[in-house]
Amino acid sequence: MDWGMKNRLARLIKPATGKAVWLAVDHGYFLGPLSKLEEPGKTIKPLMPYTDALMLTRGVLRNCVDAGIDIPVILRVSGGNSIVGPALSNEGIQTSVEEAVRLNASAVAISIYIGTEHEHQTLMALGQLVNEGERCGMPVLAVTAVGKELEKRDARYLGLCCRIAAELGAQVVKTYYCEDFEKVVKGCPVPLVIAGGPKLKTELDALKLAHDAIQEGAAGVDMGRNIWQSDNAVGMIKAIRKIVHENASVKEAGKSLKN
Ligand code: 5RP
Repeated sequence: MDWGMKNRLARLIKPATGKAVWLAVDHGYFLGPLSKLEEPGKTIKPLMPYTDALMLTRGVLRNCVDAGIDIPVILRVSGGNSIVGPALSNEGIQTSVEEAVRLNASAVAISIYIGTEHEHQTLMALGQLVNEGERCGMPVLAVTAVGKELEKRDARYLGLCCRIAAELGAQVVKTYYCEDFEKVVKGCPVPLVIAGGPKLKTELDALKLAHDAIQEGAAGVDMGRNIWQSDNAVGMIKAIRKIVHENASVKEAGKSLKN
């Protein structure tokens, strides 16, 4: 792996712990102004001191984030779909790697939709992005998207998706936590980070999800709604950091919710 690629990855996955806490705020690219992310700049600001990277689109980056920040950016470069359109899986690359370099991104992110009518197009797009990324030293984060079919999140399906993403050259894969998650980790030769998914019933449920994922081999979290849709978003991200970087138990990390 070339120096630039290695250096970008080292900014994202902290060498001190080998782990990562990323804040995902890219949801608007297909969901529009969803609850608590209506004004992304306001949502992001108090959470910035506790995140290792921000995952977002170029539109939110340019318009809502100060260019003076010292936090690496994971640029969402796939899109072209919407929650009210005919198929969420109908995504393509809509932001170039050149643009990602211009924006000083540390990685680019793309969703793949395995098992859908758009499987081939999204996997070919991943390959194209990896080829361009390799030319520029830009890591690719492949997101194993499930669209509206949340029930797809089992080890057999996610294991298949993660392995395919890694085989096609993604340097990091983002997936969901599931039962038998170790099997997903075992079959994927590159680091895995987990999404949180829709907001869980309680904060402790989300902390347990992060905790179990880390204990079973995840390299970190790239979490959105379970952090910023919480009424205690700062407490949540602090607690998540403890779990990811300090190996804290759910109980120990939960104390951050009370500070
Ligand atoms: C959308 C994404 C989101 O960034 C991802 O789902 C993470 O956010 P959350 O924790 O809210 O699920 O990649 O496809």
